[in-house]
Formats: sequence, structure tokens, C-alpha cells
Amino acid sequence: MAGQIPQRFIDDLLARVDVVEVVGERVQLKKAGKNYSGLCPFHQEKSPSFTVSQDKQFYHCFGCGAHGNALRFLMEHDNLRFPEAVEQLASRQGLKVPREGADDPRAQAREKKRQQGVNLLELSASFFRERLVMGEGGKARDYLARRGLSQDIVRDFGIGYAPDEWESLKRHLSGQGIAESVQVEYGLLVQREDSGRSYDRFRDRVMFPIRDWKGRTIAFGGRVLGDAKPKYLNSPETPVFHKGRELYGLYEARQANRQLERVVIVEGYMDVVALAQFGIRNAVATLGTSTSEEHFNRLFRLVGEVVFCFDGDNAGRQAARRALETVLPLMIDGRQARFLFLPEGEDPDSLMRREGPEAFADRIVCASPLSEFLFEQASEGRDLQRVEERERFATTVLKALERLPEGVLKSLLLSELASRTGVEQGRFKALLKKPEPAAPVMTVEMPPGESEYFDEPPLAQPQRKRQGNALGLMSRTLQLLVHEPELVERLPEELDWCADNESDGRLCREVIRLLRAGRYRSMQVLLAHFQGTEEGQRLNELARRELLIPRTARATELDGLVAHFRQRLAQYSPQNEFDALLAREKAGEKLSREEKQRLMELLVTLKSAGAR
Ligand code: UTP
Ligand code: MN
Repeated sequence: MAGQIPQRFIDDLLARVDVVEVVGERVQLKKAGKNYSGLCPFHQEKSPSFTVSQDKQFYHCFGCGAHGNALRFLMEHDNLRFPEAVEQLASRQGLKVPREGADDPRAQAREKKRQQGVNLLELSASFFRERLVMGEGGKARDYLARRGLSQDIVRDFGIGYAPDEWESLKRHLSGQGIAESVQVEYGLLVQREDSGRSYDRFRDRVMFPIRDWKGRTIAFGGRVLGDAKPKYLNSPETPVFHKGRELYGLYEARQANRQLERVVIVEGYMDVVALAQFGIRNAVATLGTSTSEEHFNRLFRLVGEVVFCFDGDNAGRQAARRALETVLPLMIDGRQARFLFLPEGEDPDSLMRREGPEAFADRIVCASPLSEFLFEQASEGRDLQRVEERERFATTVLKALERLPEGVLKSLLLSELASRTGVEQGRFKALLKKPEPAAPVMTVEMPPGESEYFDEPPLAQPQRKRQGNALGLMSRTLQLLVHEPELVERLPEELDWCADNESDGRLCREVIRLLRAGRYRSMQVLLAHFQGTEEGQRLNELARRELLIPRTARATELDGLVAHFRQRLAQYSPQNEFDALLAREKAGEKLSREEKQRLMELLVTLKSAGAR
């Protein structure tokens, strides 16, 4: 364990950094008089109540009360522990964090090396960023613009440029007193075998920093500006970078959405960045490897659902089968995996630019659930009318089921298998071997002393339970659609009446979009789509409730409900929205966190309007 950081160092550090700069890298700030203001990153809000004072070097949110100095901000915002926040600030300044009483020389040496690595990579990242905005970065800026990337996105992803020189980074780092051997060890320099001379690994490339889940730069990927080969050059394995476990874009996705629920796994750097540019900010990419168990473990700690994107060609299907194999043992209840196949010759970047972000988002929502892909996969090329083929089909599915942990998904698949083969479920159950013990969460040997670098995000919160009280009008609308998906045809094109602040409003909209996308027309398939998620539970609840009205009256009821919502929309005022939310709270309904926050916002809005 490293020793205490001396208070003097911390004071000195805080005197050197500017809180406006630190916050400004994570929150869009506007100068407002003497201070800066922006949307508070610690609570949801639509108008800015978050201010940063340069004089006093602190931030304060009038909405939620969050406040503190640059260190506190980093801790809260980036989820860092105190020493990590100190380290991050220090490395920006090129400072080494001193420790008191770290007297075990081996620990000291390890710590020193780790620090050096962190420092070195952060220094390199800022070096590349600076070069991008300088004169020599012109070509790279043009290239990024040609690829349609805005300056905001370039900033969010920390993209930079490695100059077209043999020793520019080397000179820069050496000038900061960093030994050449360390630069080689961290993959920034390449050492020639014969002469022992070293030179910059990345030259004349657009540089994508690869950050760990906490935002620390651990490696780089560099793309050529033209068609030269190799197109992408990645950092080699180093003490802090292990390609097979990192996901490009994970940190950025979490920055964009603290309550991330779903992650889309794509292939390339550019796919992640381009999707983000178009508002799809939950994409991550493996770094030229297939998705490993470690990737999944890491992802499922943060989100309940992963969606894989694959090319529509043979290689893509092969990759999908591998992913299915890998993910099966990890599919405990509450987790979900989907498979999305892209048209041949497209990647997410190109497809989204061609058909637009909305259509691409629809594809994500409509991606095949694991169950569907599994059955499709097992029946591929088989004529299930024939007994032997059916048997082989069943064997394939059973083999997959054996690898699946006990749970709802497994029972569902078993009963589905029974209905597809006409064989009674009990017979399959008897055939099934006991599943392998659940996979250990993390099994990689870590280099001694580096473990702190790799510590894992905390486990995702257990899913919230919903209560079963009387249905609100929006829930009733949703219930009608669940029972009779065909009714979706009657709904008006525009979905503005389906407001987020209604309970079930968001889910209702998602269901409508899904039904419109045309894939599902039966309740069962719709439920299967959401199986294993919180939404799935809710839809199940609604499906189990009887509609209690004759079939012929359903359409009329739906029309009436929609007319009601639209009328309410026309009469919208903050006061009405406030009243509606309050009424629900008073009626004993549990409001979600966002709804509570909205209520507070409205209260503030109404009060300040009243005061004027
Ligand atoms: P692609 O060739 O599909 O690249 O490789 P891309 O992301 O679409 O890039 P653009 O659109 O041409 O810029 C997918 C991923 O495979 C790895 C990279 O991680 C890349 O993002 N790769 C590819 C390499 O590591 N080296 C290469 O030479 C090529
Ligand atoms: Mn591409």
C-alpha cells in the first residue's frame, strides 16, 4: 500500500490547477458574469443551476447542493478515490505525487513505475491533442472533418494527432525527464533490435486515446490519414494495457450517461465515435479481438443489456456464434444479450450516415434476443419437418442450454424447445446435465502492484421492483398494446403525447416504435423481446392483467386515451405537469428518480416565475 500524500503537496497542487478547466473538460460551461455556469452533471436538469467560481476555485449547484473544489469534483464526477483524483490532477501538471512513509522499497519501486506509466500516457495524450490544434495538425483536422466529426466529439474522445516525425514525442517526453526505456515499455517508442535506437511508434496518425473505465489513458490507437497499411496501429501489451480486456469508448459512454442500461458492441474506433456524434453514446469497441468473457464480465457489471453488432457476411455470423458461446454461461437473470446483423458491406458508421441515427436506433431496439438467435442458429439449414433433423436441432439447443445458468431464460428456452419439437419438456430436463459452476468474475493474473490500476467498477444495482396498484391511463394504453399489438396501426404518427413524465410513458413509446418497426405482432414475441429486463417484468405484469373489456371495444378505448393525452399536450403548462406529478405521488405511486427530480425542477421554475 502506498503511503499518505503530504498535505503540502495537495495544497500546492490545488493552487496550480484551475477548477474551471477541470470542470470545463467534463461540463459545458458558459461565462456568466464573474462565474461560469452550466448544466449540473450530478442531477438531471434542463436549465443551468451549476456554477463554477474561478476566484474561489470551487463549484456549487443550486439545484442539488453539490459543491467542492477540483479534487472533490473529480472524485464525484469520475468516481475516483481521493488518491486517484490527486494523481489525475498531478499528472496533468506533470507532477509526481509524493508519499510519506512508503518505506517498503519494493512497493516504492512498483508505485513509482505505475506512476510513471500513468504520467507518461497522460502526457502523451495531451501532447497529441495539442499537435492536432497546431499548424501541423491541419491535415488531421481536415481528415476528421471529412469523416464528419465535430469538434465537440473530438474533444470528448480526446482525439489527437501524432506528427509526421521520428522523434517528436520522444523529445517531448524526454524533455520532461522520462527515461527512454520507460517510453519503450509503455509502447510509445519502438526500439530497433540492431542499433538499439528508439523512435516514435505513432507517426502521422490520428490518435485515439484508449481509456480505462475510470478515464485514465492506458494506450493508443492511431489511424493513418490515407490508405497506407496498417490502417490502425495499436499500442502493444504494456504493464497497464491488455488488449483482450479493454473496451474502447466505455469511459466515454459512462460519461455521457451515468445510468447507462445498454451497451452496443461494435468493431471499430470510428464506429464508436461516429455513433456518439449522432447521439448514440453507448457504443463500445473491442480492440481488434473477439469479445471475451472478461469483456462481458466488465460490461455486465455496469449494464443489464449488451447488443452486439455484426457484419451480415459469413465472418460476421461466425463471430456471432463465438459471441453466443462466450456469453451463454454468463446469462444469469436480469442480463440480456441481443444480436444485430448489419447489411453486407456496411459498418455502423457507414450505415448510420446512410440511413440516419433514428433508423439505426430502431435496429438496436429490434436486434434479435439471444433466444431467437440461438434457435435460428440451431435450425439453420435444417428441415424441421423431418424427425432426425428435429433431433439434431434439439441436441444443439440442449448443448447450449447446458451452458446456461439456471433461471428464467433457461426455463423459457426449454419450453420453447418443447413446443418447437413437440417433445414434452420433462424429457429434455432429464437430458440436461448440471450446468457448469458460474464463471468466476475475474481470473486474469495481474502483474504485481498493478492491480489497483485494474480494479473493477462496482456491481450494477439490483433491479428495482414495481408495485402492482391501479393502472394509470398511460399504463392502460400500454396494456392495450401488449394484449393487442395490432392496435399500433391506429396510433397517430407523432408520439409526442407519449410523455416521459407519465408512468410507463417511455416504455410505451419504445413498444410502439418496436411494433412499428414491424418485427412483432404477437404478445409472446413482444414479451420475449424484453425478457429478463425490468421492462420485461413490467410488460409481463400488464400482460397478466385481464383487459376486462370485449375485443370490439378495445380500439375505441385506445382512441379515447390517445385523444385525451393529445388534448392534455395542447394544454401543457409547467403548472399542469407539476400538478399531474404531484397527484401521482399523493395517490401513493412511487415516482422514479428522474420524475422526482423533474418535480423539483418544476417547483423551482414555478416559484421563480411566481416571484417575478
Ligand atoms: P475496420 O477496418 O472495420 O475499421 O477495423 P473501421 O473502424 O471501420 O475504421 P475506418 O472507418 O476505416 O476508419 C475495425 C477495427 O479493427 C481494428 C481496429 O480496432 C479497428 O477499429 N484494426 C483494423 C486494427 O487494429 N488494425 C488494422 O489495421 C485494421
Ligand atoms: Mn468504418
